Amino acid sequence: MAALTDGPLLWFLNRGTGIVLLVVLSVSLALGMVSTGASAGNRVPAFVPQNLHRNLSILGLALVLAHALTAVVDTFVDIRWWQALSPWGATYEPFWLGLGTVAFDLMLVVALSTAVKSRLSVRAWRRVHLLGYAAWPVAFVHGAGIGTDAGEAWARWIAAGCLTLVLAALVARLTRGLRARGGPVRVPELARRGVR
Ligand code: HEM
Repeated sequence: MAALTDGPLLWFLNRGTGIVLLVVLSVSLALGMVSTGASAGNRVPAFVPQNLHRNLSILGLALVLAHALTAVVDTFVDIRWWQALSPWGATYEPFWLGLGTVAFDLMLVVALSTAVKSRLSVRAWRRVHLLGYAAWPVAFVHGAGIGTDAGEAWARWIAAGCLTLVLAALVARLTRGLRARGGPVRVPELARRGVR
């Protein structure tokens, strides 16, 4: 057991899950944005990105648990179990680790709200769900700040890809939101414009 907790395996797993987690969360977030408010007539039915978004989010939760667990169990640095949940009190890289903790807490709140979705109003659930948007940049900065591999070219390419994907999905979401606000021109509006 000591060989496992003292050796480099857990630390490698922590780093590996961190990178994979960032990719999974980025794709999940992008799919969530793309599927929200998707209109009928799209080439891909809305349930496809919605289901993918949900399944990737569940995978993300499993990965973040593994990521935090490997950091805690590994003895290479001193991270206590409660420091995976509380953004205060860490001795190892307190600021960068605290950001990871905040992202983890936000993910847990979003997951919990989804578990009790039937008891919440749609509006309340949506508001809580929006915290998922906040979790992503916080997690992104955590990885860039604390990661051993963050300075490597391959890790930078992955991070740049994730950033591009999320920004592109955000632009698509905002554009669709603005178009929907402009909306189809209603009949009274046409009458006001003198169109018969
Ligand atoms: C949504 C939540 C999280 C995401 C997306 C995330 C992602 C990442 C990423 C991308 C890295 C960089 C890996 C590398 O470049 O080597 C990393 C490193 C790290 N994360 Fe997280 N993390 C999250 C939450 C947490 C939590 C809750 C903990 C608390 C125990 C934690 C502990 C660490 C540690 C200790 C490292 C440094 C590993 C190293 O030295 O490379 N992370 N994380």
